[in-house]
This record gives sequence, C-alpha cells and structure tokens, in this order.
Amino acid sequence: NGPPPGPPDPNGGAPSPEPGTAPSTPAPQPVEGRPGAAGRGDSYLRQAGNGGYDVRHYDIDLRYRSGGRVTLTSVITATALHPLSRFNLDFRGPSLRGVAVQGRTARYRRSGQELVITPATPVRSGTTFTVEVRYDGKPRPVHNKSLGTYGWVASRDGAIVLAEPDGAPTWLPVNDHPTDKATYAYRITVPSKLRAFANGVPGRVVRRGGETTYEWAERSPMASYLATVAIGRFEVRKGKVGKVPVITAVDPKFRKSARKVHDLTVKALRWETKLFGRYPFASSGGIVDDPALDYALETQGRPTYAGFVPDEDFVVHELAHQWFGNSVTLSDWSDIWLNEGFATYAEWLWAERTGPDTAKKIFDRYYRQPADSPIFSPPPGRPGHRDLFGFSVYVRGAMALQALRQKVGDARFFRILRTWASGRPHRNVTTRDFIAHAERVSGKKVGPLLNAWLYDKGKPRL
Ligand code: ARG
Ligand code: ZN
Repeated sequence: NGPPPGPPDPNGGAPSPEPGTAPSTPAPQPVEGRPGAAGRGDSYLRQAGNGGYDVRHYDIDLRYRSGGRVTLTSVITATALHPLSRFNLDFRGPSLRGVAVQGRTARYRRSGQELVITPATPVRSGTTFTVEVRYDGKPRPVHNKSLGTYGWVASRDGAIVLAEPDGAPTWLPVNDHPTDKATYAYRITVPSKLRAFANGVPGRVVRRGGETTYEWAERSPMASYLATVAIGRFEVRKGKVGKVPVITAVDPKFRKSARKVHDLTVKALRWETKLFGRYPFASSGGIVDDPALDYALETQGRPTYAGFVPDEDFVVHELAHQWFGNSVTLSDWSDIWLNEGFATYAEWLWAERTGPDTAKKIFDRYYRQPADSPIFSPPPGRPGHRDLFGFSVYVRGAMALQALRQKVGDARFFRILRTWASGRPHRNVTTRDFIAHAERVSGKKVGPLLNAWLYDKGKPRL
C-alpha cells in the first residue's frame, strides 16, 4: 500500500511556489482553497471575466512615452468569493514585469487571454485583497472581422481606448465582464506637450521634469468595456448641466467643430435628463480623436468618437447609453439590445422632439423593408457573437420599444423607460427583468409582444 491520501492539492496541480517566495513555515500545512473559474459563463464571450472574486477598485498608474511605450502599474482591490488557491485575470497586453498579491510576489502564467495568478498563500474567502500587476511595452488593439478594431488604439499623437465588448484586456489586466463593475482611479503621466483624459472627474494635474500627471476618478461602478484613456493634443471645453461638469476634448484635426460638439452634448444631456430621469454619473462630456475607426463608444460619463465629428444622432445615442447600458447594465452579451435598442430609440425620440418625423413614422419606414433585410435578422434578442453590433440589434431593438409604446400608450411607456433606468442604478439586468418591469409598470401582458419582437425569426407581424 502507498501512503495515505493527503489533502487535495490546493494549487490544482500547479507547481508549488518558487523557492524564496513561499513562507518559511516549518511543516507543510493543509492549505485551503480552489482555483477561481476562468470565465463568467457568458453565452458569447466564454473566456470573458473570471470567477472566485469580485473586483471593487482598479488603481491605475500609467506612464505614456512619445513613441507609444506604456509603463503600467495597476493595483486591483478585490474580494474573494471562496477560498482561492489561484485565480485568473483577463490580459492580452505586453509582457509582464511582475505580479504581487497582498504585497507578496506571486507566480503567474499566461495562456491566451487568461493571466493565471497563484498567490504565495491562498486567499481566504471573504477577504479583501490586492493584486498588483506591472508591465512595460506597447499595447495593441484587437482586429476582428465582425467587430472591427478596438481596445488600446494608437492615434497620431497618443492613444485612445474603445473596448466594447472585450478590448479592455489589450491594455489592462482586468476581470473583463460587465457583471463585475468596479470603481477606477487613474494617474496618467504624459510628455508635457500632451494631455490625458479618462472617465469620471478630474483630480490634480502635476507637472514635473518635462512630464505632466493627470488624475481622473470614476467613483460610480463601471463595466470594464467602458473604461477609457485618451492621450494626445486636445481642444478642451468645459461647462455644466445642473451640477454635472461637462468636459469635451477634441483632437486639433477637428478643432473647428469643438464648440459644436460641446454645445450639442450639453443640450442633449439636458433633454435626456428630463426624459430619462436623473443623470446617473458625476461627470459628462465627450472625446473626439483621430483614429478612423468610424464608430463611437459610450465610454462611461464621456463618450468617445473615433475618427469623425459626431452629428446629433451620435451624441444623443451615446449619451442615452449612460442610462441604458452604463448605469443599467446587461448581465450577458446576448442582451446587447438592452443597450443598442434603447440608445437608437433615443435618436427617434430626438427626431420627434422637433418634428416633423416621429418615432412611429421612423418605425413605419423600417417596417416597409423586406423581411430578409438585415434590419430584421438575426432577431435582436439573441443576435450571436458576430452580429452583436449588427443592424437588427439597433433597428429592430428600437422597433421593439416602439411596438411596446403603441401597446401601452405614451404615459405608461415613458414611465417604463424612466423607472427602468432610475429603479436599478448601477445594477446588472436581463431582458427577462425588462419584460417583467414593463408588465408591472403598464399592468399589461406585454411579454408575448416583446418576445416576438426580440426572438422570432423574420419580420414580426403587426
Ligand atoms: N456601443 C457602440 C455604439 O454606441 C458600438 C460599439 C461597437 N464596437 C465595436 N467593437 N465595433 O453603438
Ligand atoms: Zn450604441
């Protein structure tokens, strides 16, 4: 007979810590813990996010040098949801310089986008612990046939981050799923001829030895795909809507439109606050930069427009996401219509505000399109990974809301919209939650109608 069975291997079969990093305890103690999951079970993005812990805060210290090299130290504060022998972050960026857990050097290995971290000793369940990750190198974006270019993107004079849906790991080691929102603090150091912007409110600006450090803080919970950094030369405009500071930064290439973008942002924000209820964040504005990605992203508080000057529809759309998507956030990427359908519907309401168009007229025009048009397929409630940002998610998603409006009437419909956003600020939701909410607020059985508009193949019958 062999030796009696020992305790299960706490490292899940991984080699034990390097000599020198392990505590010098006299005898091996039976250590508790198991690995955190390598994903969050998202229907489309299987590897996105990780289990076993919940991030509370990212403290990001980033130095950008002309030429594009980045030195990053990020300290994550997280809470362990079970005893952790090891856990993962998502990261596709440059080679790492080191990882420490609770201030002690930790072992790590990388496999695809998974950064597997084994702390010197397991993390106890319920403990709030820190993970420090450092790198030095040039982050690069993701290029994807259906989703385009996203993540950390170089600009002529700096860089910009647009990371939906899974581009945050191009530059930041992160628990990359919207179900793990956290607060963010940034210290961004750049050559003094450049400036740096990020989400949230500005802090100190410190100039020292040819470099300037800009502090930014996002104190409301934020999904990682909404985290942004913008570095470069910018025309800056500042204003206020109520107590909310509005800061817009426009690349000199679009200098002539800087005032227009700023004024439009202020105007759209006022209008949407009346329509959707209290603005959910402490800061607003916009960033217009030069990489010609030709799309925008509703980066939290301060949307990013990449390669063009946004028109009214774009600004209205991205600001509407602050309520629908950024504050009230999907729990699974298959529910993307909860973001895009609502933001598109906001554009229709903007058109209706001045006339002669109405949301109904816009709906009717789309409805006349042939049944095989990409505005109808795939059904927006489950579009598939490839069509996450396809026409049907935007257009048929908005049509679903118009169909709801026609069924319940204006008073109930606008109450549904307003209380959807204000009733669950900063929380995660599902389509099922929305249907239940619409039925509760309207007192009508709108489930079958919404289900048809969201999930049925072809053109839904009127
Ligand atoms: N959410 C953005 C919008 O407001 C679209 C993002 C598209 N992302 C991408 N990787 N192409 O419509
Ligand atoms: Zn959108």
